[in-house]
Amino acid sequence: MDAADKIAVLDFGAQYTQLIARRIRELSVYSEILPCTVPLDDLLGAGYKGIILSGGPSSVYEEDAPLPPKDLFKAGIPVLGICYGMQAMGYLLGGQVVPSERREYGRAEVRLTGTSPLLRRVEPEASGQVTVWMSHGDSVLKPPPGFTALATTANCPVAAMADEARRLYAVQFHPEVAHTPQGRTILENFLEVCGVKRLWSMASFIDTTIDSIRQRVGQDRVLCALSGGVDSAVVAVLVHRAIGDQLTCMFVDNGLLRKGEGDSVIHTFHDAFKINLVHVDASRRFLDALRGVADPELKRKRIGAEFIAVFEDETRGLGEIPWLAQGTLYPDVIESVSFKGPSATIKTHHNVGGLPAKMNFKLLEPLRELFKDEVRRVGELLGLPPEIVWRQPFPGPGLAIRVLGEVTPERLDLLREADAIVQEEVRAAGLERELWQAFAVLLPVRTVGVMGDFRTYAQVIALRAVMSQDAMTADWARLPYDLLGTISNRIINEVQGINRVVFDISSKPPSTIEWE
Ligand code: XMP
Repeated sequence: MDAADKIAVLDFGAQYTQLIARRIRELSVYSEILPCTVPLDDLLGAGYKGIILSGGPSSVYEEDAPLPPKDLFKAGIPVLGICYGMQAMGYLLGGQVVPSERREYGRAEVRLTGTSPLLRRVEPEASGQVTVWMSHGDSVLKPPPGFTALATTANCPVAAMADEARRLYAVQFHPEVAHTPQGRTILENFLEVCGVKRLWSMASFIDTTIDSIRQRVGQDRVLCALSGGVDSAVVAVLVHRAIGDQLTCMFVDNGLLRKGEGDSVIHTFHDAFKINLVHVDASRRFLDALRGVADPELKRKRIGAEFIAVFEDETRGLGEIPWLAQGTLYPDVIESVSFKGPSATIKTHHNVGGLPAKMNFKLLEPLRELFKDEVRRVGELLGLPPEIVWRQPFPGPGLAIRVLGEVTPERLDLLREADAIVQEEVRAAGLERELWQAFAVLLPVRTVGVMGDFRTYAQVIALRAVMSQDAMTADWARLPYDLLGTISNRIINEVQGINRVVFDISSKPPSTIEWE
């Protein structure tokens, strides 16, 4: 990407940092997140057209409060401080920052008191004020010399400020969240001040990425392990666009997939996209490895080890392939999203598809710059079918951690049938894209029921449906009663061996999304 077209978001530890970067990209400008500790020379040397200081949990008066280097404000690059970023700017440049009498959190009404390119096209609503989302303790009481106050709220004397000469801007509220309806306009105005070219789009991303894959790989062959999920699917199709038959995909069917998933992978990649596909039916091997295992962590270990063993066995016969293409995404790459060090949000223990370094592949990670929603857009542009593009996250160990207790072929079949009904009904209700995940879990207990004139003593399915942004926290989804009723009726009537369906109403934390 041309450096001239980039915006940097310096991360001071806010929960909304990624959202800022995504909003900028939605405005067709490439943005990157950097830890707030990045040395000034590196930051200035990278050629960013503008810099955004994110919010964060600190107070500027705390010992060790993370602060940007003061010289940043002399560099001649436009800077926008958001929330804590505003306080840091105000504090460093000689304004007066004070703890608010009351912590302000949530919706607030801002009164505009000044004009600025930052507020162009921001219109007062019917109340004469502008609705914004606030979340802060400290606030700027008096702007630094050279700055003009632009807005105020009942609790916050300076809710926005600007020094037009130095192109320094700051807002106390969060323009990046949906609860600030005119926030997008404010971010757009900042981009105009930066004079940045708005060229970032998924179509341009595809073109430049295809060129760069061709250059890096040359005549070499590339291997890509397909999981059935959207990330590896998009990688495969993108790399295939770039180098055609130099790509070989491997799909290891571990026998732990959902109903119809294996066939859909073969149909899409082999039949429709005509990609070289090695389809390995390894279900027997995985089931053998899982025999007698009830402990969730042991299941994961066995599955992880078996995957590596199968992969090694199967690649041996494929000839010389120096490259491995992987679906690493931007959130995995942001090494240090917080000044305190690597983000707690990066999951390592879930890395079941991980391959040992000793396999010595050179890595091709064409989606490293992208957020998940951007990956989906790329998938759509490349012509992948909606059921793959919009697929919900699915754990590497698959149904093995949803058959609670020992995994047997019979129990897997039972779960697969029940889960297929959940998928069908959630999709029919139009909720598939809204829910982070919705799935069935087979419990290790039996309960009594009555069917016709007979007493039954059969198995229980738990239905799990959650809303989430990143799987770190999740709330149970308030599914409509009618949908719950239909799913329950269908599972009990259609899946022989199930006589009860229960709905999981726990959130994460303290529960987790998966039951194992
Ligand atoms: P939990 O259950 O920890 O799940 O709340 C968070 C997210 O991670 C997925 N998950 C896994 N993914 N290997 C994976 O690739 C795993 O072992 C694993 N365990 C959980 C889960 O589906 C949810 O999206």
